[in-house]
Amino acid sequence: MTSHIPEVSQSFWIDSTLESQYPPLTQDISVDVAIVGAGLVGVVVAKLLKQAGKTVAVLEADQVATGVSGHTTAKVTSLHQLIYADLLKNIGQEKARLYGESNQAAIEKLANLVKSEQIDCDFERKNTFSFARFIENLDQVKAEVEAAVQLGLPASFVQEIGLPFEIAGAVKFENQAQFHPRKFILNLAAKIQGEGSFVFEQTRVQKVTGEQPCRVTVANGCTVTAGDVIVATNAPILDQGLFFAKAYAKRSYLIGAWIDPAQDPQGMFIGVGKDYHSIRTAPHQDKTLLLIGGGGHKVGGISNTEEKFEKLAQYAQTYFGVEEVAYRWSTQDLVSFDQLPYIGKLTPMSNHTYVATGFSLWGMSKSIMAAMLLSDLILGIENPWADLYDATRPTPFISKESLKQNLDVGVHWVGDRLKGITESADQIGMGEGKVIMAKGKQIAASRDDQGVLHQVSAVCSHLGCIVAWNNAEKSWDCPCHGARFAPQGQVLHAPATQNLEPI
Ligand SMILES: Cc1cc2nc3c(=O)[nH]c(=O)nc-3n(C[C@H](O)[C@H](O)[C@H](O)COP(=O)(O)OP(=O)(O)OC[C@H]3O[C@@H](n4cnc5c(N)ncnc54)[C@H](O)[C@@H]3O)c2cc1C
Ligand code: FES
Repeated sequence: MTSHIPEVSQSFWIDSTLESQYPPLTQDISVDVAIVGAGLVGVVVAKLLKQAGKTVAVLEADQVATGVSGHTTAKVTSLHQLIYADLLKNIGQEKARLYGESNQAAIEKLANLVKSEQIDCDFERKNTFSFARFIENLDQVKAEVEAAVQLGLPASFVQEIGLPFEIAGAVKFENQAQFHPRKFILNLAAKIQGEGSFVFEQTRVQKVTGEQPCRVTVANGCTVTAGDVIVATNAPILDQGLFFAKAYAKRSYLIGAWIDPAQDPQGMFIGVGKDYHSIRTAPHQDKTLLLIGGGGHKVGGISNTEEKFEKLAQYAQTYFGVEEVAYRWSTQDLVSFDQLPYIGKLTPMSNHTYVATGFSLWGMSKSIMAAMLLSDLILGIENPWADLYDATRPTPFISKESLKQNLDVGVHWVGDRLKGITESADQIGMGEGKVIMAKGKQIAASRDDQGVLHQVSAVCSHLGCIVAWNNAEKSWDCPCHGARFAPQGQVLHAPATQNLEPI
């Protein structure tokens, strides 16, 4: 018998914290720096800039920390599964060293902020492990240990890691960290408001124009005039930087189950090779929540996403004896083609518009590092990581991965124009969605659990691809660059800023 899984997605981080209540922007204002997006990047950079004497306005389309940072696994580590052996080969010793150093510095910055701001967010020092279950991946693990040691990182090779199954070997990084991301972000956001600085919620930015000064316009027409703007929307909402063609959106799945604290494997873990799982625990009152993640794929690439939770539940049952899953949720991140995030000026011509994206599912340390780097850039302080992460660097438009992903976008753009030709609304059951064709137009039609049919245009408001149904999240997801929309068409995830058109 398989474990019981909740029917609706709910992030533990959101469920275990109170809702934030910041007002929407309802009048024009002026600040030194406008920050679009209140995830980990947006809130940390706002805090650092305010600390340095700038006035800031954080503009959040939804609520603070309800985006990717409210749905993450929240391991804060410089061990990003396997990366250092690749980086050494691809970008050389000095740049690979800076990558390790900058992510280690971000962990320490988080520890310092937690301490100096007295933030109660379940921050704990933990070791991280990237493990090979089978001998076929052992060489990769050993190569990673060798590369990381060469770069001065706290790495070693181990064969005992505390998980309830045999492994072939693992990379261990000592003294990394985990925390409750939403407790941290909400606490920090509360310190931004006041003294000429603001946090606004339910405030979707539609455009950013000009640079002297920058003008940020939100959906109700109000504007923020600012000397500098940081676009921290996970997937950038401004297309000038072409980030949608330099990265692809990957979605992944998490479950949470209460376990006996004696079963806590006491670490943060991720497998290597095919079908890997990510594992950590989170304390809650006197209880221990086991988190297991996995099943990642390109956004919009599959429709039966529900199955992903079933597979995670089976894994939890097999290895941890879990009978009842308490939480399930999923989220997505942009994966950069050259493994490095994009942090810095939006385009080579920009002097005051900045971006941070492409965290490749390792954005806890990288978000904090991005906040440190962006605040230095705005404050005119030299930063040794600026060139490595330069968002305008010539990235491999022509690499095997970029060609494959951009070709895939082209295939969807053209091929999906015929989608729905044989479908009709009558065939759509409760909780289902299908693209159908009516009067020559492609329509995203879905039926909710009360039997009500919702119909909106299936043409993505970003660059016009045809959206696909996600049955686990009951959303319309775009296979081209990862925008997501609710059944009634409202934007759920950037890069889109406009809803799907009503029919
Ligand atoms: C399944 C999964 C597990 C992960 N686990 C880990 C992990 O263990 N460790 C790790 O290091 N990383 C992990 N990551 C990656 C990490 O969570 C992300 O990289 C990080 O949270 C990104 O933060 P962000 O601030 O860029 O994005 P977000 O937190 O999404 O913040 C962006 C904000 O911008 C807002 N926004 C969007 N458009 C607009 C607009 N037009 N106007 C105003 N606001 C807007 C959104 O509503 C959102 O709140 C994981 C990622 C995934 C997908
Ligand atoms: S997200 Fe770019 S076309 Fe849909």
